[in-house]
Amino acid sequence: MILGIETSCDETSVALLERDGSVRVNLIASQIERHRPFGGVVPEIASREHLQHLFPLVTRAVADAGSTLNDIDCVAVTAGPGLIGALLVGVAGAQGLAYGLGLPLIAINHLEGHIFSPYLQKEGPAIPRPERFLSMVISGGHSSIYDVRGRDVVMLNRTRDDAIGETFDKVAKFIGLPYPGGPQIEKHANQGRADAKRFPFPMPQFKDESADFSYSGIKAGAIRLAREHNIHVSGDASALADFCATFQDALIAQLFDRLDVVWSRLESPVPTELAIAGGVAANGTLRDRVAQWGREKGVLVRLPEKKFCTDNAAMIAFAGLQKGEPGDPRRVTARSRVQ
Ligand code: KG4
Ligand code: ZN
Repeated sequence: MILGIETSCDETSVALLERDGSVRVNLIASQIERHRPFGGVVPEIASREHLQHLFPLVTRAVADAGSTLNDIDCVAVTAGPGLIGALLVGVAGAQGLAYGLGLPLIAINHLEGHIFSPYLQKEGPAIPRPERFLSMVISGGHSSIYDVRGRDVVMLNRTRDDAIGETFDKVAKFIGLPYPGGPQIEKHANQGRADAKRFPFPMPQFKDESADFSYSGIKAGAIRLAREHNIHVSGDASALADFCATFQDALIAQLFDRLDVVWSRLESPVPTELAIAGGVAANGTLRDRVAQWGREKGVLVRLPEKKFCTDNAAMIAFAGLQKGEPGDPRRVTARSRVQ
């Protein structure tokens, strides 16, 4: 079995996977409640929480799998990008475990974890992934499309400013919704009706016809519209719901606008699969629309199980299985930014 450890942000997670990618255990200690009073993640609190939860989670994971530490063959840990203090707790813990047990340690880029996550299954072995696929990672920290060929990951676009999840979170905070904002906006959006006449959100475009995403214009537009229409959690519930539905639509429209540009610029043969990943991939409206996009284009769309969308260690262990480059535990270093 491979042990995965993830502590890059506000979730302490430990998972045990078999070689075929079957997830035996995937435990997540969420710190959301601890950060909620501050409206976002407080790095110092995150590090302390990871410190408190990491080893009890390892002990529980091994017990839940009905195994012992001796059944572990390899350890994979998120080495970056993320909050440096939070990453250090996971990396130091993984180093101690691997060194103590005489096991190899694989350093994983958090993004690689997300990229391969759509191929994990709730039960049973992982879905065989094609040699090449298109990956769209949409999370609190990233909005990018990648061309994945074997183990090579080529970035095709990125966000020029805010990430999509960050935009959900910031606008949610402004209208008084608790952190994290994405699921909250979705909940209210499901009660409302999108009305682009009443809430005209901009569709950011670049003069250079770049395929990059941009979310700061939609964020600024949302804050202006929320002010103008007195949109707040303490105000008119139906106006709030319609605002959320329109805002969510605008964020998703930006994704498809740029996905279409990226797609149209691909040389043939084009990839046959599109794998969506990251916290925002848990959004129901987005999932429906991307499935529709796939049907129209004749592309197989892979959506991760909802529990593998947000940060989790199963995806880190799985990336470890893909990578298979175990190293000396003493040589792994945490990095807040990764090229
Ligand atoms: O992947 P993730 O757990 O952490 C990062 O690596 O960033 O993503 C967290 C992000 C947050 O911005 C959160 O608001 C967003 O994912 N998110 C959602 C939904 N669930 C989580 N956004 C929209 N709809 C959701 N259902
Ligand atoms: Zn993430």
